[in-house]
Amino acid sequence: ENFNQFQSILATVPDAMIVIDEEGRVLSFSAAAERLFGYTESEMLGTNVSRLMPSPEQEQHDDYIRQYLLTGVKRIIGIGRTVTGKRADGSTFPMELAVGEAITEGARVFTGFIRDLTDKQEAEARIDALR
Ligand code: HEM
Repeated sequence: ENFNQFQSILATVPDAMIVIDEEGRVLSFSAAAERLFGYTESEMLGTNVSRLMPSPEQEQHDDYIRQYLLTGVKRIIGIGRTVTGKRADGSTFPMELAVGEAITEGARVFTGFIRDLTDKQEAEARIDALR
C-alpha cells in the first residue's frame, strides 16, 4: 500500500531515481531512469544494480555495499560522486550519483539519484578547445 504510493510519486520525479535493497537488487526504477539507461522498470526489477555500470565496479559493487553494511563507513552516501554509467546498448556516460539511505517497513533501502553529465562534459571539452 505504502509502496504503491511511493511508485506513483517516482513516476513524476524528473531525475533518474533508483531504489535498491541491501543486496543491490532493484526495487524501483523511475521513468527518467528508463530513458537514461534504456531498460524498462520491469526488466530491471529484482536484478542487480551493478548491470548499470562498467567493469571493474560491476564486479565489485556487491562488496562495496557489504563493506558499508559491515563498517558503517560512508564513501558515497551523503557525499556524492561522479561515476561512469552503462546503458542497455553497452555505451557508457559520465553521471553524478547521490546515494541516500532509508528504512521502510523495517527494511533498509538505498536511494540513488542520477544526473547525466554528458552535455556538461561536452560543453567543458568545447571550452577547453578554445583555450
Ligand atoms: C558504493 C559505484 C550506482 C548504492 C559504491 C562505490 C562505488 C560505486 C565505486 C564504492 C565507493 C568506495 O568504496 O570508495 C557505482 C557506480 C554506479 C553506482 C559506477 C553506476 C550506476 C549506485 C546506485 C545505488 C548505489 C544507483 C543506489 C540505488 C551504493 C551503496 C554503496 C555504494 C549503498 C555503499 C555505501 C557507500 O559507499 O557510501 N558505488 N554505484 N550505487 N553504492 Fe554505488
